Amino acid sequence: MSTLTNKRILLGVTGGIAAYKSAEVLRRLQDQGADVRVVMTRAATEFITPLTLQALSGHPVHLDLLDTETESVMGHIELARWADLILIAPASANFMARLAQGHGDDLLTTICLAALGPIAVAPAMNQGMWANAATQENVTALEQQGIKLFGPDQGLQACGETGLGRLLDIEGIVDLTAGLFATGLLTGKKVLITAGPTQEAIDPVRYISNHSSGKQGYSLAAAAIDAGAEVVLISGPTSLEPPDRVKIRRVISADDMQRAVMSEIAECDIFIGVAAVADFKPVQSVDQKIKKGEAPSNQVMRIDLIENPDIIAGVAQLDSRPFTVGFAAETENVVTYARRKLEKKNLDMVIANDVSDQSIGFNSDENRITVIWRGDPDNEIQLPVASKRNIAARIIELIAEKLPA
Ligand code: PMT
Repeated sequence: MSTLTNKRILLGVTGGIAAYKSAEVLRRLQDQGADVRVVMTRAATEFITPLTLQALSGHPVHLDLLDTETESVMGHIELARWADLILIAPASANFMARLAQGHGDDLLTTICLAALGPIAVAPAMNQGMWANAATQENVTALEQQGIKLFGPDQGLQACGETGLGRLLDIEGIVDLTAGLFATGLLTGKKVLITAGPTQEAIDPVRYISNHSSGKQGYSLAAAAIDAGAEVVLISGPTSLEPPDRVKIRRVISADDMQRAVMSEIAECDIFIGVAAVADFKPVQSVDQKIKKGEAPSNQVMRIDLIENPDIIAGVAQLDSRPFTVGFAAETENVVTYARRKLEKKNLDMVIANDVSDQSIGFNSDENRITVIWRGDPDNEIQLPVASKRNIAARIIELIAEKLPA
């Protein structure tokens, strides 16, 4: 199964004769399951029409920084946050120069400046332009900035000359793109993840729950798969499709979740508790629907609650415990309270999640977190707003870094 399934790729197309090949790049990425949106420079539109790429991608093509129409659909910052990867294919010499120097004078350069995820460029230009010292300096600068280079290739060029500068073949671009997501950081590791809410029954038709959608937990499962791990996902009720190659176990209540976790925990290397487990459940769940009182009206209804088991604390107490990572959903003093949970629940790492802001946290596509771990004196890192997928990939990198050898 492709590592590009459900990945969001922003395809940047710049001005050069190879721009016509971007249509094929787009199609092959889609064949691998990627969701592709296109941003074109003005020069690119001289070589291929936005309409072609719009029809193929199924999304409006973004052209201008200050285009009110497309900005209202998805603004440049949103586009930068949306993308799991920005792939510029083809990248002209001029575009690479502007990218290397940090220009923000059109839509594509601005998106690259605002990007928090990876960027890859597939250069395409005349062989003399590629060999030029200025271009080579820009290539070095781009590599130093962590930008990946796909190609260029050797061969006959559109101008009739032969040499290095052709756009890498499309299969090569797609393979390298997929390779960026397959990190291999957790190869051979077993990862157990909980996600979503739990539902605590009051009667057969009512329950106590919370706003967790499962998006952050499912993104972590996908990121762990990309990193080469064997992944078991124990999910409370959500409407999400589990990522490919994940063993999914669906549960309803905190008690169900605890049983499922404990039955899977043996030989687990890493446990990540993303689920928003209900802290309390009704003392009694009755078998028949509770009827509304006949009279008098406005009666007070009382439900006695009792604490649920603390699943992650139970995992952290095991003799042969996995590297245990918790999330702390807080609305105030977020990092302070998260640090307390790290200690109280005996975790190895905690992810502080501010859920007071509705644009991040529960049920949003984006998140902003602080990761805190044990050991180092300098043991905290803040990850600014990014898609939950990007955040998940960064968390997996940090876990792989901190995991005892
Ligand atoms: O699902 P999304 O819509 O994408 O939203 C993501 C999220 C906000 C749910 C997620 O990022 C998050 O913060 N999850 C933790 C929610 C939570 O229950 O936090 P907590 O501070 O109450 O719990 C701390 C830790 O203990 C968590 O790892 C939790 O899974 C665990 N816990 C809590 C209670 C309990 N009885 N058992 C547990 O294992």
